[in-house]
Amino acid sequence: MRTERPRGTPIIQVTELRKEYRMGTNVVPALRGVSFAVGAGEFVAVMGPSGSGKSTCMNLIGCLDRPSGGNYELDGVEVTRMDPVTLADLRNRKLGFVFQGFNLLPRMDALGNVMLPMVYAGISGRARRERAVVGGQQQRVAIARALVNSPSLILADEPTGALDSRTSLEIMAILQRLNADGATILLVTHEAEVAAHCSRRIVFRDGRVVSDEPIVERVSATATLASLPSEEAAA
Ligand SMILES: Nc1ncnc2c1ncn2[C@@H]1O[C@H](COP(=O)(O)OP(=O)(O)OP(=O)(O)O)[C@@H](O)[C@H]1O
Ligand SMILES: [Mg+2]
Repeated sequence: MRTERPRGTPIIQVTELRKEYRMGTNVVPALRGVSFAVGAGEFVAVMGPSGSGKSTCMNLIGCLDRPSGGNYELDGVEVTRMDPVTLADLRNRKLGFVFQGFNLLPRMDALGNVMLPMVYAGISGRARRERAVVGGQQQRVAIARALVNSPSLILADEPTGALDSRTSLEIMAILQRLNADGATILLVTHEAEVAAHCSRRIVFRDGRVVSDEPIVERVSATATLASLPSEEAAA
C-alpha cells in the first residue's frame, strides 16, 4: 500500500469536519468538510484568505468549540463524543494556546518574572535584555502561559500578526525550539515569511483545504536573527 501518511503517530486526525454558525435565520458554513492528519512533532502553517475557516478549525482542534459534523481524534481519542469534564481535563493536560491578544492573564508581572527567564534561556543573550516592544512581551507571556503544562500540542492563531519583523522572528525562534524539543505546533499566519519556518503548509479556502504540502527549504529563525545587524547598530 502506498497511502500518504504523515510521519510519526497522528496526534490530530480530523475527518470531514464541518462547522456552521447560526446568525438569526442565517447559517454560515465556516468549515465544509475538512480532513487531515498531523503527526507528532510536525510544525504546520495554516494559511488562507480571511474568512476561509482557519480560526474556526483551530478552535475545534483546541476543543474550544464543537463541530457541526465530522470526526476529530486527538491522540487517538474521539473528541466529539467526549463528556465535558474529560474534555476540559484533556485540554488542560495536552494543549497550549497562543492566540493574538486575548489569552493574557490580567496580571502578567508575577508570571512573567517566573516564566520568561525560562522561555528566554537558549534563545540569545540579547533576547534576555528588557525590551520596549509591548506586543512582543505580551506574546512571550502568552507563550510562557501556553507552556506551563508542557503541552504536547501548541495552537497559535496569528501570534506574530501585530509584531515588528525582529520580534516576530524571536517568537518564531521560540516556537522552533519548542518544536525541536518535541512539541507539535499548528500556527495560523497570513505571511509566507512566517510560514517558511514551518515544516508543512495547509491552505484553506471557503471552508475547505485546497492544498497541503511539506515545506522543503525550512528557514531557521535563530539563524536569521543572528545575521541581523545588532539592535545597538540599528538604533
Ligand atoms: N462566531 C461566529 N459567528 C458567526 N459566524 C462566524 C463566527 N466565527 C466565524 N464566523 C464566520 O465563519 C467564517 C470563517 O471564519 P474564521 O474566523 O474561521 O476565518 P479565518 O480564516 O480565521 O479568517 P481571518 O484570517 O480573518 O482570521 C467567516 O465567514 C466568518 O464570518
Ligand atoms: Mg482567524
